[in-house]
Amino acid sequence: MSWERWDEVDRYTEGLLLDADEILQASLDDAAAAGLPTIAVTGNQGKLLHLILRIHGARRVLELGTLGGYSTIWMARALPPDGRLVTLELDPGYAAVAAASIERAGLSGLVDVRVGPAIDSLRALRDEGADPFDLIFIDADKQSTPEYFEQALELCRPGGLIVVDNVILDGKLIDADSDDSRVHGMRRFLELAAAEPRISATTIQTVGSKGYDGFVLALLEP
Ligand code: SAH
Ligand code: DHB
Ligand code: MG
Repeated sequence: MSWERWDEVDRYTEGLLLDADEILQASLDDAAAAGLPTIAVTGNQGKLLHLILRIHGARRVLELGTLGGYSTIWMARALPPDGRLVTLELDPGYAAVAAASIERAGLSGLVDVRVGPAIDSLRALRDEGADPFDLIFIDADKQSTPEYFEQALELCRPGGLIVVDNVILDGKLIDADSDDSRVHGMRRFLELAAAEPRISATTIQTVGSKGYDGFVLALLEP
């Protein structure tokens, strides 16, 4: 089964079940025009995040890794009018592109884009006594996922959900002797998750227009 077919199946199913959306498309187009890497979640995956937020009744969401704001917009659209989404981005240029797309989507009142290394922004959130989050989406630099997961456990409410993207890495996840720091980050994250009694978690492998990858969903026990 080929990557091309996965891509075509994403196009076919997205064409049927996702509304044509000029605002989301413009966020991707502007990101590409500004030279951002084309590594946002797919439409089907963005809608999965959106649906998870709605199923979960999420009101406060934290995202690590904004890029051009594509996943941010999908998630912020699932929030109630008094909801809040804080999204953390290292690159000020990326954050500016994202902020413009979030503004165009009419979501600036719900979304707080914070620029800087996520580990610093996470510490700042703890220092300022931020209210706990209902859902945390970890999608920044992959090698730091273990540290982000440890911080997420402290920032998430009991009964909250932690979602981690890019766990499978084209199947490289199981290469214990890999020289890829992303692989070691994801393996260390999974070992932490395995040893963490406060969570119940599962791994979902995905194929699609971004190739072969996957998510972990971890529920912090109430
Ligand atoms: N969530 C986005 C994709 C994020 S790509 C979407 O699906 O639409 C990963 C992002 O993490 C990139 O924008 C990258 O600049 C950012 N990033 C990398 N290292 C980071 C760090 N240390 N702190 C915060 N963000 C970081
Ligand atoms: C890549 C993909 C992602 O979803 C991401 O968040 C970061 C990088 C990639 O394919 O390189
Ligand atoms: Mg990702």
